Amino acid sequence: MKQGPPHRRSVLKGALGSILGLEGALAHSAAVASPRKIPFGAAVRGDALAADASYRAALAERCRLLVPEGSLKWPVLRPNRETFDFGDADTIAAFARSNGLGLRGHTLAWYGGMPAWAEAITSPVEAEWVLTSHIEAVVSRYRGFIGSWDVVNEPMPENPVSPRDLRSFVWTKTLGAEYIPIAFKAAHAADPAAQLVLNEYDIEFVGPRFAMRRAGILAIARSLVDRGIPIHAIGLQAHLFADREIDRDGLQAFLREIKALKLDVLVTELDVIDVGLPTDAATRDAMIARKAADFLHAVDEVTPPSAVLTWGITDRYTWVPMYFTRPDGTANRPLPLDSDLRPKPLMTVIERFTGSAS
Ligand code: G3I
Repeated sequence: MKQGPPHRRSVLKGALGSILGLEGALAHSAAVASPRKIPFGAAVRGDALAADASYRAALAERCRLLVPEGSLKWPVLRPNRETFDFGDADTIAAFARSNGLGLRGHTLAWYGGMPAWAEAITSPVEAEWVLTSHIEAVVSRYRGFIGSWDVVNEPMPENPVSPRDLRSFVWTKTLGAEYIPIAFKAAHAADPAAQLVLNEYDIEFVGPRFAMRRAGILAIARSLVDRGIPIHAIGLQAHLFADREIDRDGLQAFLREIKALKLDVLVTELDVIDVGLPTDAATRDAMIARKAADFLHAVDEVTPPSAVLTWGITDRYTWVPMYFTRPDGTANRPLPLDSDLRPKPLMTVIERFTGSAS
């Protein structure tokens, strides 16, 4: 996933409104969420988990479920055709189990970082065998513990020209759109009790590109449901951009269609990309919290998400600067805890929304 730089003026214009609005967001969260419990969790990095005791403590204290940020992806699991390397994923699963935390699986079919040996597959028969045998081996290994899987992640191209447009990679080149039902059927066969999720980014905002991406995800979901292919939920990744307007009407219309298909909704990768926001940490943190609160409440007005996960728990290990560094050179602050593991207003918004205050 990659996006362009924000527009500073619109961001700064929103600065004062966001600070003043934060109290409203926190109050709204308190008013709406207190009695219920929505599981909150975070993506976790295996290397940091092994090396950082304070990180382990923060995850165990703040989260009810985890999702490996990279350990269940093809590059880590499948260095070659003959190998399944579950070492990192098993370590994360053991940490979750020993701390009484749930675990999500991410992800079984995704264009991101496919190993060269897999990208080189050209035969449809071989492609279907490699994809289905991968899913069968990975899902069955964690059957009964990983309760929810991102089966297909980011099937839409960056700028789809139609709802039928799919991102080109080995599975579309060999199997076409059929790779999607193939993947969902294989995951269901491997663990009939698991929640099977179609996960996507950039379906939250105002603009034709985002509207087309919503239409594409809806078309895929509707096709799977109409064909009786097992799918249970849509994952809104929710990598929010501070300078992008949440498309409340468009998002809520999309969510109503998703609910009409009897599918659940998860918030799977929430963070706020703060590239265009002011340098001052308190100001920025207030705007980030407000953006997340606006998004969560827009979703909640149609349906409470069945889980809310952030893509990391602390700024110390965020992915964001890989693609989105701030012009003022200061560190990004996209996540609920700062780089010293101190809670920020975003943590408060999430805890009030989910009822998960530690
Ligand atoms: O572990 C290796 C390390 O040994 C090596 O020295 C280093 C330099 O090459 O790379 C390390 O692996 C990196 C890995 O993150 C672990 O940090 C990969 O290069 C890097 O590509 C990988 O990036 C991840 C990216 O997905 C691609 O898998 C990000 O951490 C991760 O946050 C990001 O997550 C995605 C979701 O899966 C899907 N939604 C969007 C989200 C953000 O892009």
